[in-house]
Amino acid sequence: MKILIVGTGYVGATTAMVFAETGWQVTGLDVDAGKIERLKEGRLHFHEPGLEELIAEHVRSGRLQFTTDKAAAIAGHDVIFICVGTPSGADGSADLRYVRQAAEDIARHMDGYKLVVTKSTVPVGTQERIKAWIAEAQPAPLPFDVASNPEFLREGKAVEDALRPDRIVIGADGRRAAERLKSLYVSFACPQLVTAPRTAELIKYASNSFLATKISFMNELAKLCDKLEVNVSEVAEGMGLDPRIGPSFLQAGLGYGGSCFPKDVSELVGAARKNDADLRILEQVMDVNRTQSAYLLDKARLRLGGFAGRTVAVLGLAFKPDTDDIREAPALRIIDRLLREGADVRLYDPVASLPGGADYRAVAVCEEAEDALRDADAVMLCTEWPAFGRIDWEEAKRLLGQPNFFDGRNMLDAERMRRIGYYYQGIGSGY
Ligand code: UDX
Repeated sequence: MKILIVGTGYVGATTAMVFAETGWQVTGLDVDAGKIERLKEGRLHFHEPGLEELIAEHVRSGRLQFTTDKAAAIAGHDVIFICVGTPSGADGSADLRYVRQAAEDIARHMDGYKLVVTKSTVPVGTQERIKAWIAEAQPAPLPFDVASNPEFLREGKAVEDALRPDRIVIGADGRRAAERLKSLYVSFACPQLVTAPRTAELIKYASNSFLATKISFMNELAKLCDKLEVNVSEVAEGMGLDPRIGPSFLQAGLGYGGSCFPKDVSELVGAARKNDADLRILEQVMDVNRTQSAYLLDKARLRLGGFAGRTVAVLGLAFKPDTDDIREAPALRIIDRLLREGADVRLYDPVASLPGGADYRAVAVCEEAEDALRDADAVMLCTEWPAFGRIDWEEAKRLLGQPNFFDGRNMLDAERMRRIGYYYQGIGSGY
């Protein structure tokens, strides 16, 4: 079987690498000629540790190819993974226009049986819609199956997650599709779950929404911890030792961002509303997340007596470390607010950049963390980049105008920071 990956963004590029790495012949197809030219040279268009090297290796070995030629690519492959974007539409639900386009392209150019698989996160019922779109657009009826195989990888850990997943979920409505899809994953040791397509689609949304719920729960608890003078990180450590809870996703902070959680939670809430079902808990999860960055801003505003004329060093822009992705990044909300309230913002992030345009012209973007800290009245840490943990904060205090530190990721040791002379506040760090 030869594998075609439609869409060479985050999920597509990683999926292409995984199948090449496990011995399959893979082609990546994209409408963006610039991306394809770079990929042909083994270069990536986004930051993801370790991925570029593996893509380059398989491009060199000939196991991985890239093209913009839809007709030839679709005709020449048996299994087609749809990995195109599914952004949130105006009403908050997933916009399937690129998925539909891919399905219609497949219908037009198919020359025999195809197994079409969705990897992109798509709303429940999309497998059925893709079947209908292909059947409608086919010039002559040729056999095909459509299956759902959601991707659970995290940005920044894509290589590790995709090569060693916790589970593989295969949503198929017949044996032919299920067996073929399973055969692509024979070399994977993790549990493989075969379900109906709708179930597979929902597993992805339910997983992300549940993780988002853990985060919002801890963020609410953190506010109580501040009042009770208890450190939320220690509470999380104690809770996480219960295997029914588990230690991950219990870190309080500025809230979740990125391209998945906000979009997926909102899609599931929308699906519940459309189906007259209640998912009130997720509405609260979204609400907590929306207001979380304001909590740290309030602490800083109170300490500084307002932001007007104050210099604030913002450390970290990416929605989390090891990525240059700034989609729904809490740092952007913080920066917007600081600018609106008249602060001078000095920003440092090791990889991510601000969007172009007039909105952020007033921000001083610094080459080094030290440049951002110079003469600042307060530091606001928004992304827990490991490099920030390696800064000698005792030394760095000399650069600051005032040693006020607001740690939006509870990254640094609260007690030590206070001992060396900082006014230090985290999110639920005790007081
Ligand atoms: C997520 C899912 O983890 C992944 O399975 C899915 O395929 C895509 O969505 P990703 O968006 O890359 O992956 O990021 P993730 O590492 O899950 O973090 C999401 C957000 O939650 C980040 O903004 C992070 O800072 C935040 N987070 C995470 C917390 O605030 N606290 C935590 O304890 C964990």
